[in-house]
Amino acid sequence: MRTLVTYSSKTGNTKKIADAIYGIMSERSRIASVEEDPNFGDYDFVAAGFWVDKGLPNRKAADYLKKVKGAKVGLFATLGADPDSEHAMDCMKRASEIVRVDNNLIGHFISQGKVDPKLIKMFEKLPPDRPHALTPERVALHERASTHPDQEDLRNAQAKFKEMLGELENSSGFSSAKSISPVPTRRAFLTRKLFTKV
Ligand SMILES: Cc1cc2nc3c(=O)[nH]c(=O)nc-3n(C[C@H](O)[C@H](O)[C@H](O)COP(=O)(O)O)c2cc1C
Repeated sequence: MRTLVTYSSKTGNTKKIADAIYGIMSERSRIASVEEDPNFGDYDFVAAGFWVDKGLPNRKAADYLKKVKGAKVGLFATLGADPDSEHAMDCMKRASEIVRVDNNLIGHFISQGKVDPKLIKMFEKLPPDRPHALTPERVALHERASTHPDQEDLRNAQAKFKEMLGELENSSGFSSAKSISPVPTRRAFLTRKLFTKV
């Protein structure tokens, strides 16, 4: 099965996940940033990645997603918030709504990703009544995010996409990914749960 892995990444988090997913795909697959505007029509499956920008898939990724039609699609994303939060679920839901119109959405994966230190510096200057002001909770959130995506996130992304390829193979007889063992963690479980809710 030929897979196109597309991504948009400002500070590298989403690209890390994209590279990991590409790493389990068959030889004739391709990885490309959305800026390259790859031709999705040449592929059996599109793994499409974005980063969360103010609660939405980032503009460049969303613009590319809007062009994808008649494809089997798996979504992946990174964001600063906890991946099992309501906010994460809402962001993925918004992206799913773009895809669902004209495609077959197979599944999705979301990981926490460190927040650009320049942005955190801006938050430091905000008055305490502003939504992104650095409360102790938000400082703790940024600290948690600062180590992500980590090796476990990458393996969980691979496991999730291997699962999607398995579903596609079962329905079509394709042969696809390289072998990879999933890491069963609470986060992976919650990510699966997230998918079933969308
Ligand atoms: C302008 C901007 C807006 C962001 N908005 C959100 C947001 O609404 N929710 C969130 O959880 N993270 C938000 N983030 C954090 C990013 O989604 C997160 O750091 C992501 O992993 C960045 O991916 P990248 O390294 O591939 O660019 C924002 C970051 C930036 C720079």
